[in-house]
Amino acid sequence: MNSRKARIAVLVSGGGTNLQAILDAEKEGILTSGEVTLVISDRADAYALERAKKAGIPGKEIAKKFCGSQEAFEQKLTEALEENRTDLIVLAGFLSILSESFVKHYERRIINIHPSLIPSFCGAGYYGLKVHDAALARGVKITGATVHFVNEIPDGGEIIAQKAVEVEPGDTSEILQRRVMEQAEWILLPRAVETVSREIVGA
Ligand code: GAR
Repeated sequence: MNSRKARIAVLVSGGGTNLQAILDAEKEGILTSGEVTLVISDRADAYALERAKKAGIPGKEIAKKFCGSQEAFEQKLTEALEENRTDLIVLAGFLSILSESFVKHYERRIINIHPSLIPSFCGAGYYGLKVHDAALARGVKITGATVHFVNEIPDGGEIIAQKAVEVEPGDTSEILQRRVMEQAEWILLPRAVETVSREIVGA
């Protein structure tokens, strides 16, 4: 058995509940083929950075607005990722757009969690509560979450895993968001991280 673990960088912008689910999975032995070694936030006030600190994991803030350009932003990201010797990048509620050249450089090394069943309610402009607003507006009875590889098409990369969640009468976007997180995202993402990490280390 291979004892090397994939070195994982988690990129975040907000509360970091998906980051927390990955950290918990590591503690609980669900994630054994990889370890989170770096957390990068594109916002200084992201609570996810607090979660990283509590878990004793290095956290870094790289905000695009202070970098001046997309290129400079991605240069800083790349430097931090290389310095960390990152094997796998997990986008866990990371809201900055990454360029085609960036994602091509890390082909099959970036995964993302999206809070709907792709190809529904995905692509440019669909993030966070907006996804659940759209699902409720369309009146779907089933929604869910998807983990996928990231390529140059927003939410267009190969699907790794999906889980369905029921929409219930009287749901608001906030209630639905929470149910999708509890019943799908926090289960699906750590498992997908384990699957991809295992592939990377060849265990
Ligand atoms: C999650 O619901 C995640 O699926 C979504 O943002 C939320 C982040 O929550 N991501 C997207 O919408 C990406 N298009 P968290 O910070 O508590 O993990």
